[in-house]
Amino acid sequence: MTELVKIATRGLYKIFGRNPSRYIELVRDGVGKQELMAKYNHVLALSDMNLDIPANRIFVVMGLSGSGKSVLIRHFNRIVEPTLGSVEIDGRDVLALDQGELRDLRRKHISMVFQRVALMPHRTALENVAYGLSVRGVPATEAHAQAVDWIRRVDMAGYEDYFPAQMSGGMQQRIGIARALATEAEILLMDEPYSALDPLIRTDMQDMLLRLQGELKRTIVFITHDLDEALRLGDGIAILRDGEVVQQGDPQSIVTTPSNDFVGEFVRDIDRGKVIKVGSIMSPLNGARSEVKLTDDTLLEDALVTLAQDGARAARVVDSAGKGVGFVELSDVVAAMRPPDVAEIQPSK
Ligand SMILES: Nc1ncnc2c1ncn2[C@@H]1O[C@H](COP(=O)(O)OP(=O)(O)OP(=O)(O)O)[C@@H](O)[C@H]1O
Ligand SMILES: [Mg+2]
Repeated sequence: MTELVKIATRGLYKIFGRNPSRYIELVRDGVGKQELMAKYNHVLALSDMNLDIPANRIFVVMGLSGSGKSVLIRHFNRIVEPTLGSVEIDGRDVLALDQGELRDLRRKHISMVFQRVALMPHRTALENVAYGLSVRGVPATEAHAQAVDWIRRVDMAGYEDYFPAQMSGGMQQRIGIARALATEAEILLMDEPYSALDPLIRTDMQDMLLRLQGELKRTIVFITHDLDEALRLGDGIAILRDGEVVQQGDPQSIVTTPSNDFVGEFVRDIDRGKVIKVGSIMSPLNGARSEVKLTDDTLLEDALVTLAQDGARAARVVDSAGKGVGFVELSDVVAAMRPPDVAEIQPSK
């Protein structure tokens, strides 16, 4: 399955310091972040980053503090310039854009949401959302109507006339998201938008994003520290460490086949029943029979419930068209939900 790539980075390096280009060769020869800092007082923020971010999906960038997440996405609209390498959006080299095209990219094609939304304090929720539309030339009455609609879509109807100071952090964040979505930019960069929110509100906000994305199908790059959040939201996930991509894949592959101990440690305690789907653990059908049917995209925890309710020891697995594609036994489901021993994880390359 080939997917349309929206944002691509090729051999992207970012070094901060007095003379970054001087150290590129050293880094390419294998000098890492710690050594570059200790010996040369330069910060290796991104190292040979090659990412294909698919269109119309949620792509999560995950990693510890300082791993390069924010620096990476700031390259997409050229808030940060690379030391070496390229960034393409829709196949166009972002570094080759002239001033006018760059302004267009930032205003029309990319919008951003941060951990702390900076709403304009002296404007109401409605005015904050409408502002971005007016800047783009949408007439006032139209901007107003669209802003009302976006506020409704983020479940904030009734708060149109509230000022930021009158709203909680979570409410402000919703307005910030409405403002970002209202511009109709096809790329949404979200830099830890939910990290400051308490867990229940955070889950609500994740649900909202998934619901909106179900209709909108924007290209969303979502940064988080939190693996649960990454697995829940991401169609694809890239895990960064010290400016390098250590693994890239869908949530299931990250949980089931971590590429090294670093990722393995991360995923060890994850609730596998909420991530792994029946289709990835089934065995061939081979004429096996069962009254119970499960679709291949059923999560293991849901499969367990179905099997238990029916008192069944196995189920036939069918695809979305209802065609039989495999077979799973209760014992396979239970085994797949058990966390692996770290020793089982493949050594890093
Ligand atoms: N303007 C800058 N000057 C010097 N170093 C910088 C600059 N911006 C970022 N860095 C460094 O680049 C590295 C990556 O930073 P980045 O902000 O991308 O991390 P992050 O993964 O977003 O972390 P966090 O989760 O804490 O936000 C860090 O070592 C950071 O200190
Ligand atoms: Mg950051």
